[in-house]
Amino acid sequence: MTTAAPVDWAETKESAVRSYCRTWPVVFDRASGSWLYDEEGHAYLDFFCGAGALNYGHNNPLLKNPLAEYLASDRVVHSLDMYTVAKRDFLNTFDQVILQPRELDYRVQFPGPGGANAVEAALKIARKVTGRTGIISFTNGFHGMTLGALSVTGNAFHRRGAGVPLPFTTPMPFDQALGGQTPDFLWLERLLGDRGSGLDHPAAVIVETVQGEGGINVASAGWLQGLAALCRRHGMLLIVDDIQMGCGRTGPFFSFEHAALRPDLVCLSKSIGGYGLPLALTLIRPDLDVWQPGEHNGTFRGLNLAFVAGAAALRAYWGDDQLERATRAHGDRVAAALAALATSVRGTAVSARGRGLAQGLVFGNGDLAGKVCAAAFERGLLVETAGSAGQVVKLLPALTITDAELDQGLAHLADAVHAVC
Ligand SMILES: Cc1ncc(COP(=O)(O)O)c(C=O)c1O
Repeated sequence: MTTAAPVDWAETKESAVRSYCRTWPVVFDRASGSWLYDEEGHAYLDFFCGAGALNYGHNNPLLKNPLAEYLASDRVVHSLDMYTVAKRDFLNTFDQVILQPRELDYRVQFPGPGGANAVEAALKIARKVTGRTGIISFTNGFHGMTLGALSVTGNAFHRRGAGVPLPFTTPMPFDQALGGQTPDFLWLERLLGDRGSGLDHPAAVIVETVQGEGGINVASAGWLQGLAALCRRHGMLLIVDDIQMGCGRTGPFFSFEHAALRPDLVCLSKSIGGYGLPLALTLIRPDLDVWQPGEHNGTFRGLNLAFVAGAAALRAYWGDDQLERATRAHGDRVAAALAALATSVRGTAVSARGRGLAQGLVFGNGDLAGKVCAAAFERGLLVETAGSAGQVVKLLPALTITDAELDQGLAHLADAVHAVC
């Protein structure tokens, strides 16, 4: 991480917890598509994209225009979970454009504004339905900062921040965590099958198909299918946290489509609000929707502006497979460039991995990766680190990025890598 330049009003007024502003110590002002501009007019190519909340780029006019019109005509902005025209349109569009074509049947819960709210609701409903408490999570998983979400998150630094024990969860190795030395799920299967193992029968398993914050760790389709089969065999619910990898980040709308999974519960947030607006969904298999009215609530569930932008995004980008195909093609372009970059580095081991437009460049340690991000920033490119030691430079360009912008960003990154290594 670079040291933050003195910004008096932030240093004296904003909590020490602030972090991205320390990595990119300028004052941002305008933004358009894949570009952010600081108040002095310097341009930055954004390969961070609001940590995945800006899949359609900044201030996308296809979303901005309906939003501006909605605001200008005094339509309802805040409504908790009351019925509104905007909510009806969002739910109908989500059903028609996303769920029905994929033959997926889910009830939609609006659990609160952010991803962690969607995770909390999924964990609660899994426990309520099964009457069990235990949740299986995976090494290097990331699910958010609230206590329930932290209890299934791997990162020691973030877990320590809880200040209390984080019980009722059991971590298991993610795909390839043991380097392929043992058959998938050997240990978990052994624990579940042995009544003397000490593992109480879990309510559910929570998994990311590609771990974003964990360092772009990609689970294979076979591993995911094996996990789904294990859940079925042992009566555990399967929760897919698609908060960062959903909404097209890996290509298809849901990141689990390539593995033909049908999770019992799905968590979505980040880019579902279309414009970077807060919105989270917990998708619930209909027979599991056993909530009592109001049993899980919250003041900010369903910001109508997010419904408007979210519905506009679904209509604009998911009525056909153009965006999905473009993301796959762009993903292949980035993967090839990163692989070439990795082999061009001498003297230190660098490798590349990813799926779709979630790609990572893996360094031997967090110090190197942090220096690369700082050098990229000096060249006008925003990329952040991920992984347990911050050892992965994570690339999340907008799905709407052009080939020329992609190549420009990759050139900045290559420059930064060669300057540092
Ligand atoms: C996979 C995943 N789950 C949950 C969250 C938490 O979302 P939020 O920060 O909106 O609470 C994140 C955030 O990065 C995430 O990547």
